[in-house]
Amino acid sequence: MDLTKLFVLGCLTITFPAIVIGERNFQVDWENNQFLKDGEPFRYVSGSFHYSRTPSSQWEDRMIKMKAGGLNAVQTYMMWNFHTQEEGKYDFTGDRDIENFLQIANDTGLLVVMRAGPYSCAEWEFGGFPWFLRQDDVILRSSDPKYLSYVDAWLDVLLPKFERFLYNNGGPIITVQFENEYGSYPTCDKAYLQHLVQKFREHLGPDVVLFTTDGFYTSYLECGALKSELVTVDFGTSTDPKEAFADKQKFQPYGPLVNSEYYTGWLNQWGDSFTYISAEDIATTLDKILAMNASVNFYMYVGGTNFAYWSGANSGDDENTYDITSYDYDSPISESGDTTWKYFVMKDTIAKYLPPPEIQVPDNSTKTSLKGVKLASKGTLLIYFDYLANASDYQSAKYPKSMEELGFDYGFVLYRTHLTKDYPENIKLSFPLNGIGDRVTILTAMSHNHSTATYLGTLDNKYRQVQELEINIGLQKGYYIVLICENRGRVNYGGDMQNQHKGIDGNVTLNGEVLEDWDMIHLKLEGMGTTILPPPDVPPSEAPVPIVYQAEVEMDIADTFLNCTSFSRGVAMVDTFNLGRYWNSLGPQQTLYVPKGIRTSTKFILTLVEFEERSVEEMVDFLDYPILNQLA
Ligand SMILES: *[C@@H]1O[C@H](CO)[C@@H](O)[C@H](O)[C@H]1NC(C)=O
Ligand SMILES: *[C@@H]1O[C@H](CO)[C@@H](O)[C@H](O)[C@H]1NC(C)=O
Ligand SMILES: *[C@@H]1O[C@H](CO)[C@@H](O)[C@H](O)[C@H]1NC(C)=O
Ligand SMILES: *[C@@H]1O[C@H](CO)[C@@H](O)[C@H](O)[C@H]1NC(C)=O
Ligand SMILES: *[C@@H]1O[C@H](CO)[C@@H](O)[C@H](O)[C@H]1NC(C)=O
Ligand SMILES: *[C@@H]1O[C@H](CO)[C@@H](O)[C@H](O)[C@H]1NC(C)=O
Repeated sequence: MDLTKLFVLGCLTITFPAIVIGERNFQVDWENNQFLKDGEPFRYVSGSFHYSRTPSSQWEDRMIKMKAGGLNAVQTYMMWNFHTQEEGKYDFTGDRDIENFLQIANDTGLLVVMRAGPYSCAEWEFGGFPWFLRQDDVILRSSDPKYLSYVDAWLDVLLPKFERFLYNNGGPIITVQFENEYGSYPTCDKAYLQHLVQKFREHLGPDVVLFTTDGFYTSYLECGALKSELVTVDFGTSTDPKEAFADKQKFQPYGPLVNSEYYTGWLNQWGDSFTYISAEDIATTLDKILAMNASVNFYMYVGGTNFAYWSGANSGDDENTYDITSYDYDSPISESGDTTWKYFVMKDTIAKYLPPPEIQVPDNSTKTSLKGVKLASKGTLLIYFDYLANASDYQSAKYPKSMEELGFDYGFVLYRTHLTKDYPENIKLSFPLNGIGDRVTILTAMSHNHSTATYLGTLDNKYRQVQELEINIGLQKGYYIVLICENRGRVNYGGDMQNQHKGIDGNVTLNGEVLEDWDMIHLKLEGMGTTILPPPDVPPSEAPVPIVYQAEVEMDIADTFLNCTSFSRGVAMVDTFNLGRYWNSLGPQQTLYVPKGIRTSTKFILTLVEFEERSVEEMVDFLDYPILNQLA
């Protein structure tokens, strides 16, 4: 039935689709503004838990705690880029096994609200889009045939996996989201939304309940939603639910009321103080939402972690900002799965409206700690090419290329060129505007194996200004200029998603002359965690940053938090598992979560790659609690 036409006409004597009673069925009862589950009025109270942010061995623990908190559903985003590093190749194993996630939800007795993408946002690298969408002028989130061909190829792989998990087919999935806060994005392309709906129905059948989520103002809904599909909104504790839902009903007068993102916390970025939202404020507005018979999803309910390079970024009016590694989000269930005070306050409010949970709240996990782990300096990163890259990670070209042009996805790229003449002191190394994505460590090395390198400086594109470095030593013919560029995460929200490049984008000049003949090497830092590296040839005390540090650690297999406050900024690995970025000299995050689920042995190699300054103490601790709120 064509609800679009029906709502546009504002027709009051309308025929609603037949209500199915008796069999396993989930549907929208438009007329009575409610969902029907097996023919009975139903509303869900769900929580966001992103499978990509918690090791799969800990998924069940988190879901049992959700169930025990009184929730009847779990909501997750699909992260497209988590499943594909290379066009046409997909990974659905281990921590990427979404079918296992759905099975655990069903076994735990939770329904699933599936935000299937293609776009997710979520403070996740590029909002969940694969990096290769930036390769050939694809107009993101539009009817551009190039974009749609990428999207369709993905959905043709993904959506068939959901079919047996749909509620009507005996599984937990009750509703499926096809776009996310699209009203906040400039393209406003209804044909694109229609295309997605058609694609989703092609795979999931005509009866699947599809929805969109947007800010509640009608202006967002005009571009973000289709009147033919369920419209849901998002808002936090400071919004009056009556007003928000009234705006939704101005746009779509019928159907159940849903807040798809009721904020229990907020995103956190390097250099900003950690955001807290009080449990009491959450409970007060939650009570109002539930009293309206609305369905609600807590964003987030389970915190998690942006391991490796998965954290996203934002592009403000005049600065770029980057999300921290932790995605604890001040959630009722913390990053390490602890049930907090907020969890119990919310549980009490939920209990006023939903049947009480049949299970007890499980205990927090046991945490382990270890004081005073001494690390050994292994010298500058530049000497470790054997562990960092192989032939497929090397490219050469006359002028530098961006990561996207090189086909390098995430992390760090080393650019180097050797000088064909002498240069005097006090000259400038210059980059074009926005030519650094995002931060570059600059060195000069005198020999090919880089064992004698000198640190020259660091430039950062945070404020999007022309970047120049004054070099106050003379450079000789045959010296190398080495640039180690860090991609700090692609923008995940707003129109600037469209134009970003990572790595070095454009020509680099020295004393006004364009430097030519570059080697470009994708550094795979995780490779260093496979072994204890040999002692360096040159005294570690003379090694320039980036510096590699290692320790062999022995401790119980249990959740713990790496306190690397005596280090400044870099990346930490447990064996080859990348815990993510640390930036203790900025904060607010001071510890990195080391989940028990990533370890199989009591022994492991801890590797830190430090980019800012040599550590004086060369010491770390493992704590039994996190520190996420200390700005340096
Ligand atoms: C999901 O759980 C229900 C019971 O709640 C069961 O009937 C159904 O077979 C399960 N589905 C799957 C796919 O395991
Ligand atoms: C909520 O649902 C109950 C039961 O169907 C109904 O009696 C009540 O009027 C509804 N409240 C609102 C605010 O719609
Ligand atoms: C579980 O951990 C949370 C957060 O660390 C803490 O607030 C809470 O008191 C702990 N619960 C118990 C029973 O120790
Ligand atoms: C070397 O190349 C292969 C094939 O592309 C890749 O799978 C592997 O991870 C690379 N090794 C390192 C150290 O990055
Ligand atoms: C780099 O410099 C060369 C030589 O001046 C020029 O041909 C080329 O277009 C420049 N590339 C960019 C991206 O500006
Ligand atoms: C974290 O490490 C720093 C540096 O080693 C140390 O000074 C600090 O006391 C540690 N923090 C805690 C809470 O142990």
